[in-house]
Amino acid sequence: RVLYIITPTHKRITQRVDLMRLQQTLTLASLQYHHSLIYWIILEDAPTCSHAVRNIAQESGLYFAHKAVHSSDNNNKKKKKKTPHRGLAQRNAGLETVLQVGKEGVIYFADDDNGYDSRLFAELLFTRHTSIFAVGLSGGAAYERCHVDPTTGKVDAILSTWKPKYNVGKRTRKFPMDMAGFALSTTALVTTKARFRPQSTAGMLETDFLSLLVADVAELEPLAANCTRILAWHVKTTEPQWAHNPELDGDGTKTFALIKS
Ligand code: UGA
Repeated sequence: RVLYIITPTHKRITQRVDLMRLQQTLTLASLQYHHSLIYWIILEDAPTCSHAVRNIAQESGLYFAHKAVHSSDNNNKKKKKKTPHRGLAQRNAGLETVLQVGKEGVIYFADDDNGYDSRLFAELLFTRHTSIFAVGLSGGAAYERCHVDPTTGKVDAILSTWKPKYNVGKRTRKFPMDMAGFALSTTALVTTKARFRPQSTAGMLETDFLSLLVADVAELEPLAANCTRILAWHVKTTEPQWAHNPELDGDGTKTFALIKS
């Protein structure tokens, strides 16, 4: 089975370290579990593909696709935007790439700034249709995870503190789970034709997508010890704000002057 990893990425000062960390986790996973094939699909939010990102992909030694999918400022959370979701167009382009590659397997959306235990990727290969598992540091809590009924072995709830019954318009946040907490099979993608919806309102992106895949939480396949092991974390690298660069700044005296926010 092919394990497709779809990663949107965009230019910022921490991009290299974030992508490099993900690259090395994926490389390690592919060495640990060489029976599976990791296919890394990197969607760069830029007008054209950069050499910097391509080099990281090439140095991984993994099979990869690298495409540019440029979002307008609509994607920026700070500017009141049409779609509030970062990485949306990139992930949908990644799904098209999966279909073009055409090999059966499992699809996981790995944002470039999260933290992943390399053992997660072997777990993902158990996904038959749509799987779910715990995400650390997610939704403003230590973790979000599904709850499994011990008698039936089925998911009976998703434990989340961040608006678990969040009403957006007339709709409920039925699957309160971060992007890092689920995976789907290529069969599920083909049969449901699921895509991320630009119309999804804030906080509803994952719920709307999962609603296209399954009708109820009980259909979700719990992974990672019934959602009790955390193998993915929703994290963000802090961006330092340097005022000057010594290479560009004459005598370099102001090199490390911090911008006060
Ligand atoms: C949360 C979720 O974890 C994301 O999966 C979801 O897309 C996002 O909310 C949302 O709905 O907007 P958050 O930390 O807010 O995550 O988002 P980021 O991690 O900053 O961005 C998600 C992905 O999109 C990253 O891989 C990032 O590099 C990429 N991105 C971000 C772009 O491709 N373009 C941008 O302008 C910003």
